[in-house]
Amino acid sequence: MSLSPTTTIQATPDELVGRVFDAMVQTLELFCLYVGDQLGFYQALHDRGPATSAELAARAGTNERATREWLEQQATAGFLACANPEQDAAGRRYALPDGYAAVLVDRDSPSIATPMAQITAGTVAPLRQLLTAFRTGGGVPYADYGHDLHAGQAGMTRPLFVHQLAQEWIPAMPEIDARLRSDPPARVADIGMGQGWSSIALARGYPKIAVDGFDLDAASVAAAQRNGREAGMADRVHFQVRDAGDPALAGRYDLALAVECVHDMADPVSVLRSMRRLVGPGGTVLIIDERVPDAFAPNGDAVERLMYGFSVLHCLPVGMAGQPSAGTGAVMRRPTFRRYAAEAGFQAVDELPIANDFYRFYRLTA
Ligand SMILES: C[S@@+](CC[C@H](N)C(=O)[O-])C[C@H]1O[C@@H](n2cnc3c(N)ncnc32)[C@H](O)[C@@H]1O
Repeated sequence: MSLSPTTTIQATPDELVGRVFDAMVQTLELFCLYVGDQLGFYQALHDRGPATSAELAARAGTNERATREWLEQQATAGFLACANPEQDAAGRRYALPDGYAAVLVDRDSPSIATPMAQITAGTVAPLRQLLTAFRTGGGVPYADYGHDLHAGQAGMTRPLFVHQLAQEWIPAMPEIDARLRSDPPARVADIGMGQGWSSIALARGYPKIAVDGFDLDAASVAAAQRNGREAGMADRVHFQVRDAGDPALAGRYDLALAVECVHDMADPVSVLRSMRRLVGPGGTVLIIDERVPDAFAPNGDAVERLMYGFSVLHCLPVGMAGQPSAGTGAVMRRPTFRRYAAEAGFQAVDELPIANDFYRFYRLTA
């Protein structure tokens, strides 16, 4: 079959201009949302009710003129309500519409959307380095994406861990669920746990277990340790800076899991091999990673477009920062993952029947 250039073109040139224009408007609105989140504007409106620009600036400790521009932008974008738009600018009062706190304020809410803005800000933080990496074949280290990427990632997955990890995902493996509830207390290894919310949610859901988290990124491990202490879990949840592919990584665990990180790793096979060793023969490893189709096809759906966006700007460059690199990227298709698991020596790869638009749940038997 010949591949004509029109195969992948969806829109006419004029439509494409419109599509890019819409993307620009929405990108700017996303970053204005970031401003409101980071400066505590949404929180202040939620905690203390509607406000004028002067009142909100006083609550948040910000400049009135800048705050007023932001409030007008938010009302124009439909993110905030304005009860009296006919008033002069200083007299207008703005409010968080009913139900919006779940989207803009409550970090444990399944609908929280502010981390989408923060992770996007973090993703584009090292854009100039990214261009260099494209030219040289190198990568961009995870640390160089900085706080917004790390916290945005944690903010995106935290509500999933809070509501689903111990309630739905682990119970999809009934004998593991039973083991984590029984004596002697079970041990879980959480690989690439970032800021630690998966480990904390597991420890909350299974009050007997101890969790050891291993992550390469020192800033993330420090945040995880802080989060563990603040959650009152420091006695059962421990985090250390560690390359999970280190053959010296030792211990015996009843479960090893890795969420949204195998595709980021320079050497995923060595990490999977470590995980196999940590659970011992016949043991269980759970890998939660991106749900993408088994083969490439142009004009993908929103999930695949999202994954490719992150892959180009973040996941592939992060994986390429360590050399030699498998060069996986966020679009880790099922055949690729099965190959990694086989190379790491696993006996079996099964998929748990969990309905989820973004993730696959690979259960590996060591
Ligand atoms: C996208 S973040 C995922 C964090 C967390 N699991 C979550 O779902 O929010 C990927 C994490 O994998 C970690 N990572 C990458 N390669 C690693 C390795 N070889 N050993 C340990 N951690 C690694 C990174 O430092 C980063 O914290």
